[in-house]
Amino acid sequence: MSDKFLPTNSYIGTRDFYPDDMRVRNWFFAKMRKVVESFGYEEMLGPILEPFDVFAAKSGEEIVNEQVYHFTDRGERHMAIRPEMTPTVARMVAAKSGEIRYPVRWYSIANFMRYERPQKGRLREFWQLNVDLLGESGLEYDYEILSVMVNLVKEFGADETMFKVKINNRRFYNDVMREVVNATPDEMKVISKAVDKRSKLPRDKYEEWLKDSGIPGAKIDRLEEVFGMSLSGLAGKLTGDSQGAKELTDLFGLIDKTGLAPYCEFDFSIVRGLEYYTGNIFEVYDLDPENRRALFGGGRYDNLIGLFKKAEVSGIGFGFGDVTFQNFLETHMLIPSDIHENNGVLITVFDDVDYSEYIRLSDELRVSGIKNTIYFGGNKKMGRQFQYAESMGIKFAIVMGGNELSEGKVIVKDMTTREQTEIKRAKFLEDFRKIFR
Ligand code: HAM
Repeated sequence: MSDKFLPTNSYIGTRDFYPDDMRVRNWFFAKMRKVVESFGYEEMLGPILEPFDVFAAKSGEEIVNEQVYHFTDRGERHMAIRPEMTPTVARMVAAKSGEIRYPVRWYSIANFMRYERPQKGRLREFWQLNVDLLGESGLEYDYEILSVMVNLVKEFGADETMFKVKINNRRFYNDVMREVVNATPDEMKVISKAVDKRSKLPRDKYEEWLKDSGIPGAKIDRLEEVFGMSLSGLAGKLTGDSQGAKELTDLFGLIDKTGLAPYCEFDFSIVRGLEYYTGNIFEVYDLDPENRRALFGGGRYDNLIGLFKKAEVSGIGFGFGDVTFQNFLETHMLIPSDIHENNGVLITVFDDVDYSEYIRLSDELRVSGIKNTIYFGGNKKMGRQFQYAESMGIKFAIVMGGNELSEGKVIVKDMTTREQTEIKRAKFLEDFRKIFR
């Protein structure tokens, strides 16, 4: 018979969230909401399905060819389960581009699916906080997004020894590749993929990969030199005016005058996998070598709205994933130990009291905002009921047996200190509030 049971495990690369897991996730998303709302961002949401073309246009080869879950619906439409939020944000802004007030400050918390090989920091279903600022392009926009990013991580007690925002620029990257490395457009595609592998592969394997992909040795050497150079050093090697170099230099000029300076650095190896980025791009890294993947990332996209409508709207934003962030919080021990405490009440029950008395107590507590449950279970021994309260992390147990009821009183037991306090049934709520914290 047993071979007829269905498996209980969730689909590969997805997670079941039991209450203990939800508690952690809800806790960090609530903190994130608080931070982004303090910057004036408003929550939005789009559908989980979009036409495949919405992603095919600009999300980049890897996502579109290897990672998107797609299917034909019953009406013969080619649909995709969203692998990311940005094209939906662009579509929604485009749909109301005439009437919307700019700048648009939007955020969302949603789940996404990508057909990934599940590994540390990478799953098939994950959640992201997306934060996007749309309107014009300009230094103040880029700075604000970076400031939201840094303040989000700091909100959890992290400091500059724990994470770093690494910044580059798509235009600058292309200019350096063309002028300094002398890479052809085809070579640039190969190099961009390799750059992403550079921090994850041993050096000889990385060079072998580049050689096997047809990059000449001299260009590999030049590339290494480039990675070792500062922003001003690299910018100095460019002959003409580089808009990308200016965007980066201006941004660092402002950062260096503010409190963001210790958290940010230039890093030429940041390329970002998504195709639509056009200007400054960034990724946030955990400084603990345990977690090598980007915690989160984003950048400026000038032309995404243009997929849907003729409109001059530029955007900048980032996607902050829950998987890598939870690894970060655990590694740096930033999850509070009392997160699983259940600040509630258990109403214990006795056979010699009419059950409606407990319902009344429970209703009184609930209506006044105190969460509580009535003990259910065949074995009503006092010890068993207290054990249950402890196993659920419940802070207070209320005892009202036949004797207490006839004497018009209730006993409140603090499960952590074991202290017992007698209060009058008639003044129950008023006196309980003095004990309950
Ligand atoms: P992304 O770099 O593809 O960017 O993803 C952003 C973050 O989402 C990653 O840094 C990581 O935290 C998380 N993430 C991505 N894929 C996975 C996965 N398979 N498993 C677990 N976590 C994952 C974007 O998605 C852009 N749309 C972000 C953006 C918003 N750019 C502008 N606005």
